[in-house]
Amino acid sequence: MIPGKLEQKLIATYLLLVAGIAVAVGLTVLTSPDTALVERLKESWLTLVIWGLLALAAAAVLGFLFARQVTQPILEMTTAAYRMAEGDFSCKMSAPSSDEIGQLGRALNLMAKRLEDRLAELEGERAKGAAILDSMVEGVVAVDGANRILFINASACRLLNAPSVAADGRPFLEVIRNKEMLDLLNHTLKEGAFAQQELQIFTPVQRVLQVHASALKGRERTSGAMLVLHDVTELRRLEMVRTEFVANVSHELRTPLTSIKGYLETLLEGGLEDREHARPFLEVIHKHTERLGRLLDDLLDLSNLELGKATLHWCPTSLAEVIESSMAIYGLQANKLGIDLRVVLPNNLPLVLADRDRLVQILINLLDNGLKFTPSGGTVTVTARLVSSFEFRVPSSEPKTRNSKLETASVSELVEIAVEDTGVGIPSQDLPRITERFYRVDRARSRDLGGTGLGLAIVKHLVKAHGGELAIESQLNQGTTVRFTLPIAPPDSEAT
Ligand SMILES: Nc1ncnc2c1ncn2[C@@H]1O[C@H](COP(=O)(O)OP(=O)(O)O)[C@@H](O)[C@H]1O
Ligand SMILES: [Mg+2]
Repeated sequence: MIPGKLEQKLIATYLLLVAGIAVAVGLTVLTSPDTALVERLKESWLTLVIWGLLALAAAAVLGFLFARQVTQPILEMTTAAYRMAEGDFSCKMSAPSSDEIGQLGRALNLMAKRLEDRLAELEGERAKGAAILDSMVEGVVAVDGANRILFINASACRLLNAPSVAADGRPFLEVIRNKEMLDLLNHTLKEGAFAQQELQIFTPVQRVLQVHASALKGRERTSGAMLVLHDVTELRRLEMVRTEFVANVSHELRTPLTSIKGYLETLLEGGLEDREHARPFLEVIHKHTERLGRLLDDLLDLSNLELGKATLHWCPTSLAEVIESSMAIYGLQANKLGIDLRVVLPNNLPLVLADRDRLVQILINLLDNGLKFTPSGGTVTVTARLVSSFEFRVPSSEPKTRNSKLETASVSELVEIAVEDTGVGIPSQDLPRITERFYRVDRARSRDLGGTGLGLAIVKHLVKAHGGELAIESQLNQGTTVRFTLPIAPPDSEAT
């Protein structure tokens, strides 16, 4: 093995020492006054040279062995230090001796253990922090002073449609293509102050985000910035719904009230004496008062249903009986309007589990709509049939494929009731919103026909409260079919 630099130095020192001693002894002998001894030495110089060389070789070997004893642990420690610098703490000093070098080795082992523990602790803390940030509902994005991503959590990736991998270190705008957010970050980085803004983003889903930007402070100056994103889309939508609702209610109340006020003023200003006109005026006032009452009743009903305050009185109910009595209410009106009112019921229809009065309320609302929006000569038909829950969910336009996986999922049997008319129909663009409160295709027409615009919203809630589903299909100028399902009553139950 080639000796190291330290070993070479130690061996050289030994050799120099031995050579020095030999030279000193030689000079002493040569300059000695004992000429007889010098003479004798001169005669045996070859023996002397051989012994001298042997002594030098022995000194070299001894020096090498001694030097190795010193340098071996130092080399080992150097290797260990290099490996530690690379994050490998597994290499330990083997059985350190009791001298100073051994103490250094033990200190190094202890340092390695401490560093390893500390790093594991830090790694654990980092993983914990990342897990907490990733499980947050709010999005979090941190950038450095040059707007390069330091960290982005899972929610931020979802909200901003940003890539969840390899975002770290990339420029902000490359990962999150939003100039307004970048401006907010730049402002925070420049001013070192907190800022907030509500932003509309399209990723491609439209969202409203409330963005809070704060500076990440280094020792003295701003070293980066952090964005916290709150998704307030649903909140803003609900605020809009509430505002619209208040505006709608006010409008719906003001319209009949304005009429009532106008007619009453006319009557008070002398119209009362005009017998011929007074009665029709009073009839209009009566009609609007009725409408106001209906509106308030519907509003209260809907509010109770929405708040879950309405309690249903469940009982096994005969559909045939409920349909017949609901239709009886409209028989005369249908005759007057020239509309054919029909019922098609199979014989073996089981009893349904429902609140009888609420079921009548659903049917009355649907029959009322059918008659209102069907011209004279048309037909309104009520049908009922036994279906499976799977069958009900398949839209009529789609072929009912025999998909074994889906069929096994359809276990419960339901009764589907449909109110079908041959009326004006509902435009396809209005269909998705037709069950919203106050949503009407033709507001003025609905009002003229005495509607409140709350009927279908109430029906939707009532069907939901029964655990059923509502589906509306319509073709403009051809007709509308409203279907809903109800659970069937236990097999041996009797109608109450
Ligand atoms: N059978 C139907 N045919 C055509 N349009 C309908 C039918 N049922 C409901 N609509 C439309 O849906 C709107 C909302 O219905 P609804 O909530 O019952 O309110 P209203 O009957 O008081 O107008 C109606 O104004 C009408 O535009
Ligand atoms: Mg209605």
